[in-house]
Amino acid sequence: MLSWDDEATPAAPVAPSTVRPAGSDVQAGLQLQEVALNPALVKNTESAASAEDIARRVNAADKRIINGQTDVNQLVPFKYKWAWDKYLAGCANHWMPQEINMQRDIELWKNPNGLTDDERRLVTRNLGFFVTADSLAANNIVLGTYRHITAPECRQYLLRQAFEEAIHTHAYQYIVESLGLDEGEIFNAYNEIESIRDKDQFLIPFIDVLTNPEFKTGTTEADQTLLRSLIVFACLMEGLFFYVGFTQILALGRQNKMMGAAEQYQYILRDESMHCNFGIDLINTIKMENPHLWTAEFRGEIKSLFLRAVELEYRYAEDTMPRGVLGLNAPMFKGYLRFIANRRAQQIGLDVLFPQEENPFPWMSEMIDLKKERNFFETRVIEYQTGGALNWE
Ligand SMILES: [Fe+2]
Ligand SMILES: [Fe+2]
Repeated sequence: MLSWDDEATPAAPVAPSTVRPAGSDVQAGLQLQEVALNPALVKNTESAASAEDIARRVNAADKRIINGQTDVNQLVPFKYKWAWDKYLAGCANHWMPQEINMQRDIELWKNPNGLTDDERRLVTRNLGFFVTADSLAANNIVLGTYRHITAPECRQYLLRQAFEEAIHTHAYQYIVESLGLDEGEIFNAYNEIESIRDKDQFLIPFIDVLTNPEFKTGTTEADQTLLRSLIVFACLMEGLFFYVGFTQILALGRQNKMMGAAEQYQYILRDESMHCNFGIDLINTIKMENPHLWTAEFRGEIKSLFLRAVELEYRYAEDTMPRGVLGLNAPMFKGYLRFIANRRAQQIGLDVLFPQEENPFPWMSEMIDLKKERNFFETRVIEYQTGGALNWE
């Protein structure tokens, strides 16, 4: 069982032979023979660089996560290997929403006796938050965070993460379309449903500040602004605001309801737990490289943001579950949110906010370990080839 600190487990990578066109090894071998027989084809490997050029090359020790002066276009030499490893793990976990069979969900949703009114409300309110949340996440990465990060390994991960956010938006849209839900209602929930609007209104200023073209790092105040937004995004959005919603849909799946949607959410949860861990590593490395940013006043401010986020997410739990449903109820989430907030606070070096909170949903930790549980809902074959098969005929 994984704990909240553990990395999400990458799926087994696709064997190279499954993605290479047949005969490519033979062709490569023939080309090598040709080069060996004809010295004119051997590339001149002598470097044209002068000693001064070589002295100017990127030195890994000079790289910094923020305000770095090294060339951001040179991925290597690696300094932040943890970011590169997460990029590789994210690629190995690649999945697409259409690979998951939604037929049983469609039948259940269309059956007037398939779900209770409370279960239907839970699903539509849940999607009402998520259909736009991952677009906010993508904007934050692509238009904000990316340009302020000067470590190319971290930028490489952020590009992968941005694509995963697009896949998540695709997955939520695919569920909405499969079930034939009112798209106008679901996609406008973040304007029209108070508990969802309040969560997004809390987040948006922290995104807007990074996407403002005038904003630049390089002063203590600006660097704290960036760090604050990174903490809100990783610890409170991806690390807290997603968890009531994930738990609800996975609870439906555990009762053999909406199993296609639950499987989509399980893959999303695996991705999000990696995003959250990457964000926490990013935050902790910035802290290590810039200890002057982590003042008592700044820590106090972060603590109040955590408390506000727990309150907003609890209101969302109450709104999505006005009565007990699926063996869940809003008060159970009070403890769960406090438990998660404690973990997030500790992960970035803050004291626990709510002493002695236990996890009321230990099965959620198992859900993160998709390698063990990946066929839990048995709606999708495990072995599949990433991307379309190449056809050279
Ligand atoms: Fe996402
Ligand atoms: Fe994410």
